[in-house]
Amino acid sequence: MRRRLLSLILIWIFISTSNLYAQVRSPQLGKNSVAEVIAAMTTEEKARLVVGMGFVFPHPSLQTEEDRNTPEKVLGAAGRTHAIPRLGIPSLTFADGPAGVRINAVRGRDTSHTYYATGFPIATLLASSWDTDLVSRVGVAMGSEVRDYGIDILLAPGMNIHRNPLGGRNFEYYSEDPLIAGKIAAAFVKGVQSNGVGTSIKHFAANNQEFNRFQSNSIVSERALREIYLKGFEIAVRDAQPWAVMSSYNRINGIPASERSDLLTTILRGEWGFKGIVMSDWWGGTDAILQMQAGNDLLMPGTVLQTQAIIKAVNEGVLSKKTLDQNVEHILNMILQTPSFRGSKYSDQPDLKANADIARQAATEGMVLLKNDNGALPLASPGKIALFGNASYDLIAGGTGSGNVNKKYVISLDQGLLNARYRIDESFRKSYLRFMDEQKEKRPKVDAFRLPPPIAEMAVDANQLEQLARDADAAVLTIGRNSGEFADRKVDNDFNLTATEQTLIQNVANAFHGKGKKVVVVLNVGGPIEIASWRSSVDAVLLAWQPGQEGGNAVVDVLTGKVNPSGRLATTFPMSYSDVPSAKTFPGKELPGVAPSGLNPFGDKPSESTYDEGIYVGYRYYETFGVKPAYEFGYGLSYTKFSYGNLKLSSDKFLVVTASVPVTNNGKVSGKEVVQLYVSAPKQGLSKPALELKAFAKTRLLKPGESQTISFTLSPKDLASFDPASSSWIVDPGAYTIKVGASSSQIKRSASVNVAKQIVVQKSQKLLAPTVSLKELNP
Ligand code: BGC
Repeated sequence: MRRRLLSLILIWIFISTSNLYAQVRSPQLGKNSVAEVIAAMTTEEKARLVVGMGFVFPHPSLQTEEDRNTPEKVLGAAGRTHAIPRLGIPSLTFADGPAGVRINAVRGRDTSHTYYATGFPIATLLASSWDTDLVSRVGVAMGSEVRDYGIDILLAPGMNIHRNPLGGRNFEYYSEDPLIAGKIAAAFVKGVQSNGVGTSIKHFAANNQEFNRFQSNSIVSERALREIYLKGFEIAVRDAQPWAVMSSYNRINGIPASERSDLLTTILRGEWGFKGIVMSDWWGGTDAILQMQAGNDLLMPGTVLQTQAIIKAVNEGVLSKKTLDQNVEHILNMILQTPSFRGSKYSDQPDLKANADIARQAATEGMVLLKNDNGALPLASPGKIALFGNASYDLIAGGTGSGNVNKKYVISLDQGLLNARYRIDESFRKSYLRFMDEQKEKRPKVDAFRLPPPIAEMAVDANQLEQLARDADAAVLTIGRNSGEFADRKVDNDFNLTATEQTLIQNVANAFHGKGKKVVVVLNVGGPIEIASWRSSVDAVLLAWQPGQEGGNAVVDVLTGKVNPSGRLATTFPMSYSDVPSAKTFPGKELPGVAPSGLNPFGDKPSESTYDEGIYVGYRYYETFGVKPAYEFGYGLSYTKFSYGNLKLSSDKFLVVTASVPVTNNGKVSGKEVVQLYVSAPKQGLSKPALELKAFAKTRLLKPGESQTISFTLSPKDLASFDPASSSWIVDPGAYTIKVGASSSQIKRSASVNVAKQIVVQKSQKLLAPTVSLKELNP
């Protein structure tokens, strides 16, 4: 017995000293310098570090046996990096996405502990709050779940521009305007990262559609890229230093974004000072070596082919050691900040209750009241509501694909009304639930990532309608839309209402108006739909977006006036789809030939989309070309009224100017106003939009009669345009009109400042230029 004990002790001493020896021999990340760790790495280890792992679908054979068998730390997370234990390098875990942490809620058969995450409102709703403090609070809450679930980087925010209302992932993005997208993203990133975890802003860049998304070429001018499609990313990088940037799938002027060193290195790192890592989108790009050379540090989710190609290229001198070391250095510097490196303990128990409260509050702040005739809203309380529309009973909390969240529950609108002690017709409710169940059964089955076809609206017969109109105090009717990865939306039966929706609206309106009762439409959508043809039939329209898991409660908070709506459109609602400046070129055309090599997991065809509207995207187009939208950028009603006092400028000559304006609540209830500052540039030099948003702020909750003075400071960079001839940001001389208002067309006050002579704000070089000639729209 004693001899056995002695030999066990000897074995233990041997194991621990040999471990110690190995550790003494190899430098350790954190203890030794990053340079020393890199010097100790073999080419194989470097190649393992720059190629990720952890997502088997759809190519299991492209992962090594070892990777396939390495247990996942967080089930359902989108991907991981390889650990190199001998050098003290841990594996990192990345999870989506913009509306909350997307991981599996249940792990295997064990249901004793669940891993639900809060379903926050979609990004488009958050941006419609025009409230950076609020978005930062959402970021803090979401980031706490990233931390509590042991994840290192959240694959969010998505911040591509709403180039066209049909973009299938627009709901994951903020706005048609890069200033809003940039400022809201920066606030979100700071909030998330305050938890000691990272973000990966995505998808960099000009990734504005889902059609053939792995193979589509965005043909865009340098000016439109700089001013519209890169600007938001620039603001987020400069203001918030995200830990990571995710390069996009698409090509930009012929070359995959993840293979463009002008984008990922010269502009991102050189001009903007980005310090983090660049990761590819999942299976993005065609050539691992070109990606490495471009500065796409990490290939996600990684394949064994990429690892082998990198090792071979280094051995044959095709990929320089210096380039690979640079990518490795970026990754190691980032790893040093992560919870996995710090060995942080995590609870697996986020505060879902507190975060649900934040989700509900945020949802109410980003809803936009589009129409409210004769005080139809707020609803009288407590009352009886006749509730129509499939989405009333099956609220769409958010979009599908990687922007989805496995949340514990979704509060529907019927539930929200009941929670607020409104009454609804129980047997009518049951008939909706039965109808939805039956229809869902009949739908074709699709995988978890795809969107099942929508269910046509339930027909309500005339007698029933008559009875409901007699019994209820008002009608609330919800129109629902969903979309997600892999597909863009369509014009018919999506942007435009379906025939059954039009009929339902007209029938409900006739029945309720016949009894002198109001009809309220709730839009439970991820992006614009056509409104002009039916809005005159109803009394009020509330744009609730896809409001997250607390949606039903949040809609009711606004319908009842518990919260006064203060959301404003950050994306225009056009009169008709044909009015959209990119209507003819979105989503582009397929090209003859087969897709080039690379992974192309979904068989996408080569295609291209020509951005010939140039910088005239969204309100920049509608306001400049005099095309009246249904609801303009910046628009939104309140249950109160605001007035604007005199606009004061600190100087009438420009270098730095502070503009201030007092805003007063002149109505009967408390409310918040979104104050928007636009600038109209002189008509000389480069062609300019009629006006451009240059600053915005939301007031605090103002009581009736209360005022707040809002101040904005503008410096030359705010007024600069990108001049492709000199590859520089310049401010042309002349008179600039500073306009303060409540939307792009409701300007309340204006004043002018003079720029004496041209200012060159920043000099760049010719980068990202199209290789074909582009005929851009010009006023
Ligand atoms: C999406 C990314 C996402 C990634 C990981 C890709 O298909 O485009 O936005 O972060 O998958 O789930």
